[in-house]
Amino acid sequence: MPDSFPLPPRFSSVDEYLSALAEFYLRPFVQSLAGEMHIINFFLTSPDLFEDTLPEEWLEFFDQAELDDVLDYLIYFSKSPSLQPPDSLSKFLSTVQSLSIDRKLVDEKGHSKPVPPLHSSALSVGMSPKKIHECQYLSSLISDVCSKVGTPHVIDLGSGKGYLSRTLAHEYNCSVIAVETVESRTKGAARLDSLYDRKGGKKKKARAEMGTGSLIHIEKFVDGGDLTDIVEQAGLSGHKMVLAGLHTCGNLSHHALKSLVDTQEIHAVAVVGCCYNLMTEKDSEEDDVGYPMSRKLQSCSIPLPSTARMLACQAPATWTRETRESFFTRHFYRALLQLIFRDRGLLGQIQNIGSLRKQWYSSFHTYCKGACQRAVGAYDAELDASSENPFDISEEVSTEYHDRLLSKKRRLCVLWTLMACTVGPLTEALIHLDRYYFLKENGASEVQVSVIFDQVMSARNLVVVGIKGFP
Ligand SMILES: C[S@@+](CC[C@H](N)C(=O)[O-])C[C@H]1O[C@@H](n2cnc3c(N)ncnc32)[C@H](O)[C@@H]1O
Repeated sequence: MPDSFPLPPRFSSVDEYLSALAEFYLRPFVQSLAGEMHIINFFLTSPDLFEDTLPEEWLEFFDQAELDDVLDYLIYFSKSPSLQPPDSLSKFLSTVQSLSIDRKLVDEKGHSKPVPPLHSSALSVGMSPKKIHECQYLSSLISDVCSKVGTPHVIDLGSGKGYLSRTLAHEYNCSVIAVETVESRTKGAARLDSLYDRKGGKKKKARAEMGTGSLIHIEKFVDGGDLTDIVEQAGLSGHKMVLAGLHTCGNLSHHALKSLVDTQEIHAVAVVGCCYNLMTEKDSEEDDVGYPMSRKLQSCSIPLPSTARMLACQAPATWTRETRESFFTRHFYRALLQLIFRDRGLLGQIQNIGSLRKQWYSSFHTYCKGACQRAVGAYDAELDASSENPFDISEEVSTEYHDRLLSKKRRLCVLWTLMACTVGPLTEALIHLDRYYFLKENGASEVQVSVIFDQVMSARNLVVVGIKGFP
């Protein structure tokens, strides 16, 4: 198997792709979209982030054209006949497109990849259609990697409720060690294992024997690439193993890739990452966990600030008009509340708010109530009894802020979409180039990055496979 990376059509080598991507990504305008702005601070600057960042002719176009047409243009590059985007914007978006990985799930001839079967319906118990899709495609690929390496032994890192592990054990007869840090998930996985047995799944052997078709669960927080203790606990020292991971979030992907180097028994890795916002950036030579992992990307000095990593987690192509409206409302409310906090001198004192349950977004006033319960943190109203609690936001105040800035919501929608559709895919490509080069620099004889899921079913759909180059 030759090394491969899903290169955009105009490139003939990974090095050539990286240098073009790096040159574009490091341009000051792209850097300002990628890192210098945080959407929660949208209303804090004057002029606002939108006016402050974008060229004049784009501002005019974005302010005047029909909003849904503009968003469709940014997301799908589809242009309604009446839409007249400025040439500079069309050119910018074309360049982004030409540098983006094609995320369609197709074979070498461009045909849709057939769905690998799941012979036992008992396996899909508890799985959403998304999870079934992921387990079908990824377990089929992992079983191919096992055959290539010549082992039935797989470690499923960050196994969650064990859907991939169960599929590998019972559909492909692999012997699987599922490793997960959260106790409730390991327990949930064990319950699903029993349910699978009760439904008679175990009696059906779909395929010829590969291994024993066994599955054990180990509860452990993994913090590096040395998994020797897990291998020993499973009694498999000296056996060849494959390290698999379905949506290994943040740095867990890096630990998985490093296991090829740091754990003697690991002979191949096959991981699909996610949650790049949880990934750290290397802050020193000694830090061998964060991005960039590879010497190649280190030599390019391309920073990936938190905004860029968060944008890489978006999947605009899968947004519908309803879902995108709900994202925008969430961002709009958070940015408005940030302005209230600023006006009340509270910035620097607030706790992280994160995402609230759906019912808290029914109006801005309801959102203020829910968000302030989280933001209030260590503020003690009794200590400051002389004045009003600044986290009490009356309906009159919230309505005044909301109504005054509502007309600017469209600008926030456009800016967020522009950032997600441009910086997002380019950042995800850089992260995967880093993983590709890391494996190549560290003794893998075969490295493949490819599309493994239909992006509409599962947005984080790039798998990284590396096979050790020595026995
Ligand atoms: C996005 S979930 C994917 C779960 C499962 N693979 C699936 O696709 O259904 C990532 C899982 O990795 C686990 N995890 C994250 N960091 C971990 C670590 N350092 N060690 C072990 N498990 C970890 C999380 O608890 C979570 O269950």
